[in-house]
Amino acid sequence: MEHRDQLIRTARAMVADHKGLVALDESVATLNKRFEAAGIPQTEAFRRAYREVLITAPGIGDYLNGAILFDETIDQQSSSGRSFLDILQQAGVIPGIKLDEGTEDLPGFPGEKITKGLDDLTERLISYRQKGLRFAKWRAVISIDGDLPSEACIISNAHALARYAAACQHAGIVPIVEPEVIMDGDHSIARCAEVTERTLRELFYQLNLLKVELRGLILKPNMVLPGEDSTEKVDSEQVAAYTVNCLLNAVPATVAGIAFLSGGQEPELASGHLNAINHIYQSELPWPVTYSFSRALHQPALEIWGGKDENVKAAQAAFLELGKANKFARSGQLIPNEFSR
Ligand code: 13P
Repeated sequence: MEHRDQLIRTARAMVADHKGLVALDESVATLNKRFEAAGIPQTEAFRRAYREVLITAPGIGDYLNGAILFDETIDQQSSSGRSFLDILQQAGVIPGIKLDEGTEDLPGFPGEKITKGLDDLTERLISYRQKGLRFAKWRAVISIDGDLPSEACIISNAHALARYAAACQHAGIVPIVEPEVIMDGDHSIARCAEVTERTLRELFYQLNLLKVELRGLILKPNMVLPGEDSTEKVDSEQVAAYTVNCLLNAVPATVAGIAFLSGGQEPELASGHLNAINHIYQSELPWPVTYSFSRALHQPALEIWGGKDENVKAAQAAFLELGKANKFARSGQLIPNEFSR
């Protein structure tokens, strides 16, 4: 494979030094929804300003190896006229791009989704690489509801993830593969574990089928949790045990790294779970296990900012504080009492 060595180097750099990744790649619709809830005008100017709050937070390179961006952001600049890509690169943060184009209904399978965006992938990859982006992300959505997910949904989404990953590697871009088993529903943690493991097993079958180089790939999975409407109570140790069991059963040791999504968990819970995973199991894990959060890293910053210039510093401080907490969690050394949020 033409880009193998460079892919492996980039993938390792994305999970190095006890740091993680931040997802700043909310689509226009998703970010607008969060803005609406926080009373922020839903315009391109405010979306750019919000991205500036985060990208220019002083010292982000202390906590982050990479930032996943959305297409709208990559040609934007800070108010002082510097390109966002430049600012990130100067801070030592590798820029990446969300490549999927959201989901649509999976025909014939009510309640299930398939991710869009495979059609013009090669052209988009070439153009993003020329702009300096070095990795990409593709999210598949798997829902648990009664007998769902169907085999069809798991296989179709795993195959699309593998097609995307192979296309990325051929263009010299490291793929982050994100098969998200979402938290919606009242299912148990055991059911989430079963579906997550089935999904991951199928994903790695498809990745191998399409000859994807696992040393040049990052997996972005969900943590194993009860559904958000479930009454089941679980502690961090149980979440860690279920999650690690799934990963060890289904994820080859050659994968360059694992970087969790937060999935709508409160920031304290997401970092607490990441901490428990690394604190209890680090010596058994063959991969670096880190974070690639959106909401659990910067939803508090969004609420503090509220679209107002006078709140920028406080919002940046909240973002950096969560960066720091997750850097500790990534090493299994988070002391909850010292984490003031
Ligand atoms: P959350 O951490 O908010 O789940 O977002 C991660 C992500 O990148 C979803 O695609």
